[in-house]
Amino acid sequence: MKRICIVGISGKLGQYMTEHALARGYEVTGVCRSESVGKLARFEGRITVHPGRTDDRAVIEAATRGCDGVLVVLAPWGVQDYASGTARAVLDLAPPGARPVFSCGWHISRDGRDRYGWKIRAIVRFGTPILKALRLVDLDDQVRATDLVFASDRAWTVVRGSDLEEGPSEGLPVWARHVGDPLLASNLTRRTDFALFMVAALTDLELIREAPAITGCNSASFRSGETAATGASPSGR
Ligand SMILES: NC(=O)c1ccc[n+]([C@@H]2O[C@H](COP(=O)([O-])OP(=O)(O)OC[C@H]3O[C@@H](n4cnc5c(N)ncnc54)[C@H](OP(=O)(O)O)[C@@H]3O)[C@@H](O)[C@H]2O)c1
Repeated sequence: MKRICIVGISGKLGQYMTEHALARGYEVTGVCRSESVGKLARFEGRITVHPGRTDDRAVIEAATRGCDGVLVVLAPWGVQDYASGTARAVLDLAPPGARPVFSCGWHISRDGRDRYGWKIRAIVRFGTPILKALRLVDLDDQVRATDLVFASDRAWTVVRGSDLEEGPSEGLPVWARHVGDPLLASNLTRRTDFALFMVAALTDLELIREAPAITGCNSASFRSGETAATGASPSGR
């Protein structure tokens, strides 16, 4: 892995991914909306930014050219298929050999075998129609975006983040294939570690065509010994 593109580079997750990628010596290009370029001032001279919407196919084609990996922040903003347009552009236009890694939340399910607590069910059930009616966010579009990824024959990974908090790194998060796994009970990850997992996934062959649900490695549910009882490992199951 030499050169990567971060699609959605100016957000919180995007900036943490940039730090981790630069620390690994990767050459970094990124895509963000023109009005957000200023948020990346501290990286000036160390990254190349392609201003534009992340669902702009010409921008994605140019920004991912020559890249070995593409980290994609799937953000379901607005009601014009922003997330699915972004996923489609990356899947269609990134170099054929590039490894695409997408971010989303636990609410995404690949095979319907995830078991959710009341909080996520309530957010999806009541939040989805309200946010959509306000034309702010379309959670269903993030579902459509990941469905496109799951159907793709690329070497993708979809990283499903738990609730997030700020704070210094605790290390690489642990993961499980399904939400509801006791390993994930703490449901809390440092945002910088979510980013660390995304960057690490670029070179982790075990994660190809997986949709890991992650939580912090310092979480009570991982440290409590439940893992020993169920045979979990820090690298997931
Ligand atoms: N927040 C959570 O608790 C949480 C939990 C689990 C998983 N996740 C996942 O983590 C990823 C990042 O989420 P985050 O909450 O941490 O946010 P974030 O990193 O701040 O990223 C938000 C992204 O959305 C873009 N954006 C913001 N407003 C926009 C608009 N009106 N139109 C178009 N783009 C807009 C931002 O770009 P600009 O810089 O241009 O604004 C940025 O790229 C997402 O995939 C999310 O599903 C989040």
